[in-house]
Amino acid sequence: MKTNIGITEKNTKQSVTILEVLLANEMLLYVKTRKAHWNITGESFMELHKLFQLQYTELEASVDEIAERIGKLGHKTIGTMSEFLKLATLKEHSAKDYSTKEVLKELLKDHETVVVELRESLELYAEKNNDLGTVDFLTGLIQQHETTAWILRRYLN
Ligand SMILES: [Fe+2]
Repeated sequence: MKTNIGITEKNTKQSVTILEVLLANEMLLYVKTRKAHWNITGESFMELHKLFQLQYTELEASVDEIAERIGKLGHKTIGTMSEFLKLATLKEHSAKDYSTKEVLKELLKDHETVVVELRESLELYAEKNNDLGTVDFLTGLIQQHETTAWILRRYLN
């Protein structure tokens, strides 16, 4: 049945395009954070192991919410690894051996990139579209990523 929520088809498609890239980035970041959880070593092992678990659990919830937001806008959601890798603006971290500091720096950079891209998307929505539900949703996500970035940054100071 057609979705009738007061947003034009063109604006809905634009929202979905942005949400798909976001979904791909969150999936990539979810996998990268799991990798960090599995491979972290050193004096802060248990603390960071638990911190990364908390972070990937949050990312998993965000992934689900973004995918379902696409559904709420009346579109089918992408869901294959090849689609995620094709659409993501973040990069995978394939190195096997890297220091705790490098892991923290890499994840911090990724969370900051997501915040910057979300802010750009929001400016676009606020000015042009009438998709207030997505604006509100993305604003919440910005705050979540800003908090995670702040926590990761504290380990690097
Ligand atoms: Fe685990």
